[in-house]
Amino acid sequence: MKLAITGKGGVGKTSLTALLALSFARAGRKVIAVDADPATTLARTLGIPNPESITPISELHELIEERMGVQPDSIGTFFRLNPKVDDLPEKYWVEHDGIRLLIMGTISRGGTGCACPANALLKALLMHLLIARDEVVILDMEAGVEHLGRATATAVDAFIIVLEPSRQSIETGRKIAQLAKDISIKRIFVVGNKVRSEIECDFIRENVDFGTMTICLPYSDEVVLSAMEGSGRIKPAADIVDGIEKLKETISKQY
Ligand SMILES: Nc1ncnc2c1ncn2[C@@H]1O[C@H](COP(=O)(O)OP(=O)(O)OP(=O)(O)O)[C@@H](O)[C@H]1O
Ligand SMILES: [Mg+2]
Repeated sequence: MKLAITGKGGVGKTSLTALLALSFARAGRKVIAVDADPATTLARTLGIPNPESITPISELHELIEERMGVQPDSIGTFFRLNPKVDDLPEKYWVEHDGIRLLIMGTISRGGTGCACPANALLKALLMHLLIARDEVVILDMEAGVEHLGRATATAVDAFIIVLEPSRQSIETGRKIAQLAKDISIKRIFVVGNKVRSEIECDFIRENVDFGTMTICLPYSDEVVLSAMEGSGRIKPAADIVDGIEKLKETISKQY
């Protein structure tokens, strides 16, 4: 199961990644959570102590030099096209609550066809995670659609699009779903989040003309409070936990 959590900025992608990862781990599944957003917040949301002390893979300059055979930021020079990456997850993940977290860091876009060695290593690592591993892999993506590189996105086998009750978030969701269809992603699941009433959930359901509408997660003061607390670890209320269990079942049924 290789899931990409996508959606407009601030809708709850990182929160959902953390909650789903925790839920799969509790059910005894092996889980790799990947922070694929350059603005890394997943470690904190998972409650990992001192998240700022974890160096993202994109900043491991010696590793990049060793694996790619050139300086990390060299442009236009020759470097390895298929670097060895299969040993990297075990070396660089941080384990917490049964979840293995990998923080990718910034994949610079540098215009079309930027073939920077650091990018190439990150892409190779992502492909390895998506194609060669038997764990559940959950990618916490950057907001929007522009960054969804085709090669990587194609290797994902389901998109989960998070929506909040607003036209803008549904518009972004629709664009993401279109992209997913263009690259033949088999499964698109839609999750409503921060919903304060039945009316808001209905608004989402009625406007979603893409993917499989699954659950609406309620707006939760506990989640807000946990984001304010020192550790930042997400503390979901019982109704959110129930919703996540349902989502997990719905996803699992389609595999
Ligand atoms: N169900 C919820 N109820 C209340 N607050 C929520 C809920 N889900 C998420 N939040 C809060 O909304 C904010 C944004 O959530 P989160 O960081 O998960 O979104 P995101 O989509 O990953 O954002 P970004 O696009 O910046 O990466 C956080 O402060 C989080 O605590
Ligand atoms: Mg996020």
